[in-house]
Amino acid sequence: MMDLRSRFLEGMSRAATFVAVVTTDGPGGRDGVTVSSLSPVSADGEAPALLACIHHQSPAAVAILKNEGFCANLLHESQQQEANLFAGRSAAGARSARFDGLGWKAGAAGQPQLDGATAAFHCRLATALLWQTHYIIVGQVNAVELSDDPAALLYGQRSYRKSVGLEE
Ligand SMILES: Cc1cc2nc3c(=O)[nH]c(=O)nc-3n(C[C@H](O)[C@H](O)[C@H](O)COP(=O)(O)O)c2cc1C
Repeated sequence: MMDLRSRFLEGMSRAATFVAVVTTDGPGGRDGVTVSSLSPVSADGEAPALLACIHHQSPAAVAILKNEGFCANLLHESQQQEANLFAGRSAAGARSARFDGLGWKAGAAGQPQLDGATAAFHCRLATALLWQTHYIIVGQVNAVELSDDPAALLYGQRSYRKSVGLEE
């Protein structure tokens, strides 16, 4: 018999989500973390807004709060390696070295945009709510960079996936 937590995780594993690397830079340091919790909030406020849920012990969350800004890099389906790198799943050594072997550039507000991301949402930190284990981080979007290839990397049933259109 599965306990409630296990049933929650199993239930959520059935939702294929897109995969993003939330990056940040500034006085709190340069950092980044892979998330599946990126979600749009609204396109129609003062500015578009999105949110991500990041574990409170993640150094990336701490840096985002200090830097008051971040970039949500929606990964392209070819970027599993980047997803694993920013999830601490590869042997890249120190987390400060995560950016070293990658192509990236700073956006207008200084937040790191990863080369190849299918979309990059540059955000100012609007608010953050600590809900038990995770910060719900809300960003006000000030720029969106789009690549030529819209195919986003997905994660579902505990593995990386890509989307395939259904026939009508
Ligand atoms: C596909 C995928 C999705 C993830 N989504 C989240 C997420 O939404 N929030 C989160 O805090 N960690 C998420 N993680 C785990 C983090 O990427 C990371 O491994 C873990 O939080 C340790 O982070 P740290 O290296 O910043 O301490 C995800 C990992 C993977 C592989």
